[in-house]
Amino acid sequence: MLKSESGGGEIHPHFLFEKLPTRVGAMTTPVFDENLMCDFAVRDPYGYFAELRENDPIHWNPKHKAWIITRYDDVTATIKNPHLTASRIEPFRQAVSKSANSPEVDETFGILADWMVFLDPPHHTRMRRLVSRVFAPPVVRARTQAMTEVVDSLIAELPVGVPVDIMESFAAPLPAIVIAQMLGVPPIDRHLFKEWSDLITALVFGAYDNPDRFRSAARGMMELKNYLLELINKFEKNPEDNLISLLLEHEDGDSLSRDELISTCTLLLFGGHETTTNLITSGLLALLDFPEQMADLRANPDIFPMAVEELIRFDGPARATVRLVKEDHEYGGVKFTAGERVFIANPAANHDPRVFANPGQLDLRRNPTNHMGFGFGLHFCLGAPLARLEVELALGALMNKFSRIEMACTREELSWHPTMLSRGLHKLPVILHH
Ligand code: HEM
Repeated sequence: MLKSESGGGEIHPHFLFEKLPTRVGAMTTPVFDENLMCDFAVRDPYGYFAELRENDPIHWNPKHKAWIITRYDDVTATIKNPHLTASRIEPFRQAVSKSANSPEVDETFGILADWMVFLDPPHHTRMRRLVSRVFAPPVVRARTQAMTEVVDSLIAELPVGVPVDIMESFAAPLPAIVIAQMLGVPPIDRHLFKEWSDLITALVFGAYDNPDRFRSAARGMMELKNYLLELINKFEKNPEDNLISLLLEHEDGDSLSRDELISTCTLLLFGGHETTTNLITSGLLALLDFPEQMADLRANPDIFPMAVEELIRFDGPARATVRLVKEDHEYGGVKFTAGERVFIANPAANHDPRVFANPGQLDLRRNPTNHMGFGFGLHFCLGAPLARLEVELALGALMNKFSRIEMACTREELSWHPTMLSRGLHKLPVILHH
């Protein structure tokens, strides 16, 4: 729990992440590697965080200038801690503005500032109330048919008997099409949405360390904003069966402003895409690693809802969530100082043996309703009902259509994106058999 230097330095946003290069020329050293992006931590965050969880559960990381919280009980307490704030855009804005200054950059930060994931109550409470109705389970379930059609059309294109990257051909396009469709984007414009979605990901994952990239990403954000404005005006005049039309409706005499609506659409586009893609691929990989579990799921598809929860617990896409210390306080015998960053290691909590027995075993019948894969508390993932349904439909269709799925590379050839807060494979080559 020792803190070797005080906080400060550059502040990174959350949800939104820094993309750092993996360590070059890694040395063999008996000392714990503080680099959260070292090869070991990227390949096996469970093993990496386990070391901290057992030996230093509230750890000051001098390299990233952040606290790392790894035990389940500390993770839930940290997320509930009123001395912390979810608001972390301002330090990000200040860091970027030093090098990349333009009206587009300013406006982009204006859009990000309204993302509910960065808000504290009461602003967060109001935004969440106005948006949550569009993700209520019945509203999401009503889209099952439309989603099944998208899944089936992508599955029909998959080659049989030869290697195919299931990430590129299936797991990546599916959530992008689903969220564009839900927002009411006409099919002809979906390719634009895919580009904009990638762009927001680049913007929030790592563009801030490169002023030119940030400026061009900000210009792209303005295109997306103008496109969304047209869409909003269209659905205001003639509502259709989509999320934008629903979000335009009033709730208890209140409704989202134009700016809030645009922010929310960009958040949904971002939040709904890469995470779900990563869960489809990591879920399939886990099933390939535990063939007896895959066999159980094939024979008993009714266990799918709890199987999806276990897949998120076992290897979910959230590698960490971030908060900032709002005011000086003590927790767990440690002094936290205003301005410091706190990284909440969701995977470490999900593999804490104090809560989940034999955590490294995939057990689709475990029913881990208390996992941290969708976060916890006020900011618990709003899109969870949608993500669960998409993953269930995607993996269910793969298993229905193909009697056997095998890896088309060795386990050692697999690699993960070196990102701080998310976990996703670069690709997952498989061979599908009828
Ligand atoms: C497997 C897929 C997904 C995972 C693992 C995931 C994970 C998370 C996590 C961990 C948080 C909490 C962040 C924090 O506490 O700072 C979160 C929040 C959020 N997620 Fe997801 N997410 C997924 C899919 C989706 C989808 C499909 C959508 C919508 C289309 C979505 C929209 C949101 C929103 C709007 C929030 C912010 C909620 C708030 O601040 O109140 N997510 N998600």
